[in-house]
Amino acid sequence: MIIENQRDVTAAVVSEIERAADPRFREILSSAVRHLHDWVREVKLTEAELQKACAIIARLGQLSDKSHNEVVLIAGSLGVSALVCLLNNGQGGQRATTANMLGPFWRADSPRMDNGASIVRAPTRGDPIFVTAYVKDIDGSPVAGAEVDVWHSSDEGFYENQDPGQADWNLRGKFTTDAQGKISFRSIKPTGYPIPVNGPVGDLLRAQGRHNLRPAHIHFLIYKPGYKTQFSQVYSSDDPNLATDVQFGVTRALIGQYVRHDDEPAPAADVKGPWYSLEHHLVIERGEAKLPTPPITGKATGDARPLSVVLHRR
Ligand SMILES: [Fe+2]
Repeated sequence: MIIENQRDVTAAVVSEIERAADPRFREILSSAVRHLHDWVREVKLTEAELQKACAIIARLGQLSDKSHNEVVLIAGSLGVSALVCLLNNGQGGQRATTANMLGPFWRADSPRMDNGASIVRAPTRGDPIFVTAYVKDIDGSPVAGAEVDVWHSSDEGFYENQDPGQADWNLRGKFTTDAQGKISFRSIKPTGYPIPVNGPVGDLLRAQGRHNLRPAHIHFLIYKPGYKTQFSQVYSSDDPNLATDVQFGVTRALIGQYVRHDDEPAPAADVKGPWYSLEHHLVIERGEAKLPTPPITGKATGDARPLSVVLHRR
C-alpha cells in the first residue's frame, strides 16, 4: 500500500504478515510488529537512536560463536528467559515451579554415577557438600527411575569446561532416582560467578549500575519419559546476591537451604572441618521428555581461564 502517514506503516506491515501460511508465525510476528511500532511511537525514537539500536543488535550476533551466545545472555539479563520459563511451567504459570533456565554449560553424556558418589574427579578446593534431591510429581508422589544430570561451578566460580585446571567432567554427573525419587551425591560447595561483560550485556549493566553476578547454584536436568524434561537450578541460601541475580533466575521455590555444619561428624570419614548439606525437592510435570541441544560439547581449548570481570552494584 502507499503510505499516507505514520499510522499506515503498521497497517502495511501487518497486512503483509497475513500472507504467511503458518498461523503461529502470523500471530507472533504481527503482535511483535504492533508492539515494536507502538514502542517507537511511545518513546519517539530518533533516527540516531535507531542507528544505535541496530548497531547493538548486530554486535550481539558478531560476539556469538560456538562457545558463547551473547543473544541468550542479553535475553536473560532483560528477564525474558525467566519470564518464558515461568509462563511455560507450573501448569502454564498457575503455580510455583522448580523449573529454571538451562544455562550455557550443560554437557550431554555426563558420567553415570551411583547415588552417594562424589562428582569431584580430581582434587578441587572447596568445602565438602552432601546433596540430596527428591524428584516428585505434582501430586507429591516420588518419581523413580528419572535420570538427573547435575553440574555446577567450582568455588572459584568456573565450570570445568571453562577451566583447564579442572579434570574433564569435574563437578558433573548423572544419577538415577531410587524408589523414593531420591538422588544423592557429594561435591564441593559452589560459589557465584560473573557473566561476561565485554559486549552489549556489559554496556547494559554498566548503564544501569547493576552487578554481573549469578548467585551460587547447582544445576539439575531431570529426564524421564512421560514427564516434561525439567531444567532447574537450586540457589544457595547464604548468597548475598539472591535478590539481584543478573539473570533474574531466583524464585522462592529454588532457594535451597545450604546448611553449614561446624561441629557435627560428616557423612564421610575423610572430612575435616566445616561441611555443608543441602536437601531439596524438585517437582516435575507430565509432558514431553525431550533433551535440549547441548549448548557446549566439551572443554574449551587453550590453557587460560576466561577473564573474570566483576561489576559492582551502585
Ligand atoms: Fe550456572
